[in-house]
Amino acid sequence: MSEQKSEVESPFSLKQAFEGKFVIGAAVNEHHISSEADNLLLTQHYNTLTPENMMKWEEIHPTPTQFSFARPDDLVSFAELNNMQVVGHTLVWHSQTPDWVFHREDGSRKSREELLLLMKNHIDTVAGRYKNRLYGWDVVNEAFNEDGSLRQSLWYEIIGEDFIEKAFEYAHEAAPKAKLYYNDYNLFKPAKREGVVSLVKRLQSKGIKIDGVGMQAHYSLEHPDLKEVEDSIKAFSLLGVDVMLTELDISVLPFPDENNMGADVGLSIALQDEFNPYSDSLPSNIQKELANRYQSLFAIVNRHSDKISRVTFWGLHDGHSWRNDWPMPGRKDYPLLFGHDKGLKDFARQLPFAEDK
Ligand code: G3I
Repeated sequence: MSEQKSEVESPFSLKQAFEGKFVIGAAVNEHHISSEADNLLLTQHYNTLTPENMMKWEEIHPTPTQFSFARPDDLVSFAELNNMQVVGHTLVWHSQTPDWVFHREDGSRKSREELLLLMKNHIDTVAGRYKNRLYGWDVVNEAFNEDGSLRQSLWYEIIGEDFIEKAFEYAHEAAPKAKLYYNDYNLFKPAKREGVVSLVKRLQSKGIKIDGVGMQAHYSLEHPDLKEVEDSIKAFSLLGVDVMLTELDISVLPFPDENNMGADVGLSIALQDEFNPYSDSLPSNIQKELANRYQSLFAIVNRHSDKISRVTFWGLHDGHSWRNDWPMPGRKDYPLLFGHDKGLKDFARQLPFAEDK
């Protein structure tokens, strides 16, 4: 009789494989929290969760007098039960924020004072509710243009450029223990990187708490140049703040508007078959390209694990990913570590050990 294995081999776990480097997470929604199958994947592989949509202003504070906390409460309770961090997403963003926040009933714009009061009330109520339960917050999301200038959002136009400072100050008052982050896409771009470096330095010079920069990391097979990603990881780390990949996914699909690569949710283009080449399945050569791309990225991430505190995938499995519907609704993409069948892709097991070739 062959010798019984002294112990049954424990199933592969991403969070255990990355232990000691950084926490590993996924963006989730209410369906993941209510699905037993998804629960098992989440508890086996992840130690940090980010709400994909349920804590955005339009969902958690849909009208001036209404807050919707049921789903966020369920998520936070699930995470606490399973010893997982939650990072709130997101307090101040130009998108998914109801129009009543910026305009009066007669359509006129609210004043700086009115909008600051609204921002403070929102942050006090939402961040305050979870002040001892959330590990951190994406306090401000996507406030910069690609050239490093401030996005002409209504937050900026009505309050002025100090809307960011105010958001971080209010968040610190509401949740003194929470880590406070600035989050954005395309931060590999030198000009955008410099815009955020200047922001962090400005907040630090004013004694305003900021604990980290979230690089969203919505990438594709060819884009961006990972050397620029590495340069940004180094640049943000030199500021003495945490660096995180906060919304990682790697699209395998051709992008219909090369001048607009990033993650601007406002972009929407009618479906064209030429941009949906893998609607049935992913050819093995493209699977290999995806594996190689993830390996190359994690060779960098592992090398800089002293700078990186978290890597969060923007979704649990391919069938759920926002990439299937952006910028063309109705496509089939394969951007995450768990496939449309919810199975872990083979290459994922190697990522914790990825090194430069
Ligand atoms: O919940 C409603 C549902 O009731 C309705 O029937 C349906 C059709 O109108 O819409 C549903 O809301 C959608 C929501 O996702 C939940 O599925 C919104 O229309 C849709 O705009 C929203 O998209 C989200 C997008 O942000 C805008 O909030 C994506 O799921 C989410 O992955 C994406 O995530 C963003 C990050 O927050 C910021 N960084 C970029 C990233 C990708 O765009």
